[in-house]
Amino acid sequence: MMSDLENHATESEAPLSPERRQFLSRLSLGLMGIAAALVAVPVVGFIIGPLIRKFPVVWRPVGEAESFPIGKTVRVSFRDPSPLAWAGVTAETAAWLRRDGTGEFTAFAVNCTHLGCPVRWLPDADLFMCPCHGGVYYSDGSVAGGPPPRPLFRYPVRVNNGMVEIRTSAVPIG
Ligand code: FES
Repeated sequence: MMSDLENHATESEAPLSPERRQFLSRLSLGLMGIAAALVAVPVVGFIIGPLIRKFPVVWRPVGEAESFPIGKTVRVSFRDPSPLAWAGVTAETAAWLRRDGTGEFTAFAVNCTHLGCPVRWLPDADLFMCPCHGGVYYSDGSVAGGPPPRPLFRYPVRVNNGMVEIRTSAVPIG
């Protein structure tokens, strides 16, 4: 005569019925799907979030108009239009500002249109140079050579109450 323990062991080792096997299979697939979604949703949000995030358009003052010599191209700093809470000093960005005439200014983004490295202004050569892959731009921001696919991005500029202001926006790169 079998004891209760032996009887229970024999029952638990009995092959699963097809219905039970199918149910467990579906249950485990469902649980795996939920686990995958729990991992994937934040990852996908992190990747595409910056692409769909709206950048506020803000005019940033960068200095008194009369402080910029006519014909000179100088670097000015301003706060990023939409800094992340943890951005710290990286929330500061910059532009190359040129005073073309009394009240006329041109502002170029410092970011190379290839992969975003900061370009330098070389006054003697009258060129912008990108140190990363050798991209070169003419003084009007158009591409002179190298991998950049587009001219330097230009910010709208205005003079408001004697202050030069740059309208910030997302800089297209790549
Ligand atoms: S990032 Fe400027 S040339 Fe590549």
